[in-house]
Amino acid sequence: MPTLALTRRLPAAVEAEAARHFTLRANPDDRPWTPADFAATDADALLCTVTDRLDAATIAALPTTVRLLANFGVGTSHIDLAAATTRGIAISNTPDVLTDATADLAILLMLGAARRAAEGEAMMRARAWTGWAPTAMLGTHLGGKTLGILGMGRIGAATATRAAAFGMTILYHGRREQPGLPWEFVADAADFWPRCQALSLHAPLTPATRAIINADTLSRLPAGAILVNTARGELVDDDAVIAALRSGQLAAAGLDVFTNEPAFDPRYASLRNSFLLPHLGSATTETRTAMGLRALANARAFFAGDPLPDPVSQ
Ligand code: DGY
Repeated sequence: MPTLALTRRLPAAVEAEAARHFTLRANPDDRPWTPADFAATDADALLCTVTDRLDAATIAALPTTVRLLANFGVGTSHIDLAAATTRGIAISNTPDVLTDATADLAILLMLGAARRAAEGEAMMRARAWTGWAPTAMLGTHLGGKTLGILGMGRIGAATATRAAAFGMTILYHGRREQPGLPWEFVADAADFWPRCQALSLHAPLTPATRAIINADTLSRLPAGAILVNTARGELVDDDAVIAALRSGQLAAAGLDVFTNEPAFDPRYASLRNSFLLPHLGSATTETRTAMGLRALANARAFFAGDPLPDPVSQ
């Protein structure tokens, strides 16, 4: 049996399935791996996660036995794909299975941000509620507003479907129009930003999308817009988002992902109009189990000599 290193603990059903098909190198303490851990890996493949920083130096130091990085997750910005490919290491990911869970969370963040849920919840826990009032804690209605989806992939489309059910008008912007979708594609970003009363980010992190939400793009949104990010923290310039939350240019932001997780910018925590979650997009038992089984299916196909079901290329 090939040897598979699990860099993190996985749902029990996934670990059991992994043990049926691989000799395992496990991580019983669930401690995120360091570069030294990767260099000492005694395995033919790694089942890795977003907490593994597989930069060029770490990949260069991997033992030559490692031939596959089976990523537990759809985003692969934590892996230097060029470095892995140069070393002849294959890469797979887990698309589809986390689409619904992540779209659900985008809606949770949008509603929570629009309706001041974090602020209200904090007030209750502080026993600071003084009673119902006609003008207290007024948020923003989503129905009738326009939602811009930046990056219309699977998760963007699932978010759009849900938001449309709330009565939102949907627009999207990205590299190209997606055939067969019922929503308006806005090819020119200059025409897109001013129409986004809410903006949900679903683009992959690339050199072109890094800090795409910055002082300039935020200033083009309608005043009082709502920002939602379930994609990657590095899509936003934190200084600019924090300034926009302070000025009211953004009425609120619902954020599930951050630059330098888990050490996110502490200024977010002191803003009353930020709604913050700790990278929970795919965090349901059903979804994390499906992700693990999908990663294992890729590893099994690879060692059987079959094409990867979910190959990732540069
Ligand atoms: C993903 O799948 O990319 C999630 O963010 C977890 O890594």
